[in-house]
Amino acid sequence: MSEQLIEKIQTLKKERNAVILAHNYQPGEIQDLADYAGDSLGLSVQAAQTDADVIVFCGVLFMAETAAILSPDKTVLLPEKTAGCPMADMITAEQLAEAKANHPDALVVCYVNSTAEVKALSDYCCTSGNALELVKSLPQDKEILFVPDKNLGGFIQERTGRSMILWPGYCNTHVRIQVEDVKQARADHSGAVLLAHPECNPDVREVADELLSTGQMLQFARTSPHREFIIATENGILHTLKKQNPDKHFYPVTERAICPNMKKISLEKVLWALEDMQYHITVPQEVAGGAKRSLDRMLAVLPK
Ligand code: 13P
Ligand code: SF4
Repeated sequence: MSEQLIEKIQTLKKERNAVILAHNYQPGEIQDLADYAGDSLGLSVQAAQTDADVIVFCGVLFMAETAAILSPDKTVLLPEKTAGCPMADMITAEQLAEAKANHPDALVVCYVNSTAEVKALSDYCCTSGNALELVKSLPQDKEILFVPDKNLGGFIQERTGRSMILWPGYCNTHVRIQVEDVKQARADHSGAVLLAHPECNPDVREVADELLSTGQMLQFARTSPHREFIIATENGILHTLKKQNPDKHFYPVTERAICPNMKKISLEKVLWALEDMQYHITVPQEVAGGAKRSLDRMLAVLPK
């Protein structure tokens, strides 16, 4: 059944001159199907550079919007139109405009997990993969207004000592990872290295061995001499961690860390997306210009 679907997708993909991009949290079979699977930063780079006519984005809405902004001449398809990111919706453009008016001298840095309208009102965009480098590159005397994730913002503040105003948004999935889960996992797997995403709560971040974006986790696991890892992020990444490192062991810190929106994409929906050219994601030109400026600044700062 899956083989037939995959064959149909591959045939149609060629006919449409399409590329399939997938985030590391996608179901395993979607990551395997993709021409490129990666973290938000890697996906943005791919979306900006591809010479395909069509991008099938297996992720959530803000990712497809980002691809549409970076590649305005391509057709960007999101196979499931209700796949959104609750964190991205935790700040509106109106709320950001008000916060900017209250802090007129602050530089606005928005996490890529935000709407196109919020990106358009921001000075810089960042992902968890380049947030530290980006903030370090900003003038020291400037206060930073960081939206919408208080946890990624708090992580940057801790590491850089910068003066930051943090918008109180958060990821519904990562905050489900509790420090008790970490204690239990440590007791079950003593000697394993704990890799956590900076979207986790402060008490979890504090006890982690490494705080990494999903792309950095994959890189770390590949090159680390350690053999056992506890993973504190969305569990979709376990698929590729295990596949790339068959001789190492990976344990999810909790089975609760599942993003329901990331799991809305299926092989059928990817096929239907290519058959019906749906759902076409576009960003109004008056918003796209400003959003592209903050995304271009993000892409200029890649991690070392
Ligand atoms: P990264 O893959 O950039 O670490 O992003 C995590 C995330 O929550 C995406 O929605
Ligand atoms: Fe949004 Fe969190 Fe899901 Fe990522 S894992 S899409 S931040 S809700």
